Amino acid sequence: MKFFIDTANVDEIKQAQAWGILDGVTTNPSLIAREGIEHKKRVMEIISVVGDIPVSAECIETDVDKLMKEARDIASWAPNIYVKVPMNANSMEVVKELSPQGINFNVTLIFSLPQALIAAKAGASFISFFVGRIDDMGSLEAPLNVVEAVNMVETYEFPKDPEILVASIRSPLQVTESIKAGAHIATIPYKTMEMLFHHPLTDIGIKKFYEDYLKATGGKSA
Ligand code: G3P
Repeated sequence: MKFFIDTANVDEIKQAQAWGILDGVTTNPSLIAREGIEHKKRVMEIISVVGDIPVSAECIETDVDKLMKEARDIASWAPNIYVKVPMNANSMEVVKELSPQGINFNVTLIFSLPQALIAAKAGASFISFFVGRIDDMGSLEAPLNVVEAVNMVETYEFPKDPEILVASIRSPLQVTESIKAGAHIATIPYKTMEMLFHHPLTDIGIKKFYEDYLKATGGKSA
């Protein structure tokens, strides 16, 4: 499973890259707004840091013609941009038209299997399942939906060989569930990504090894 980072913060992206686990970046209008910076400027900054791994940048237009123009424009910023559009009928018209022209789309705000199927048929490259927002509702269906969506894209043929991207992740447990579900990608906020390195027994073990080493060397560190 690929690890993407779900952020528009350049320092967080640089750290994830330094850890050697970064396969892509996803942004959205809320994350860009949090940074208080113009959309294109920040996306280009991110690309200058990460190079040619996939970077998702989201459209905001809703009308078909305006969205078509916006999607074309965002795609022209760099070849590794995945144009993010929300699941709805107008967006699918745009994906259907532009995907064969070589534009990669990340269809977002997916909550059901039929929505995932529609995105795949239209020509999406990434299909973003929002598991956290389903969990927030107290529903247990999120991991199940991901398993079924992975099965679906592996069972049928679609124009772009789409990958199931688990989004809206807030906890290491949701990352574990994504791995178990066979998701192709999980996009993870920085804080959750950092938590993945830890396990209580790992942290206790590291402390104990260090203390034993100091005891054996009479307090001298390496
Ligand atoms: O990038 C989309 C997604 O990950 C948003 O997450 O936490 O706002 O539900 P969240």
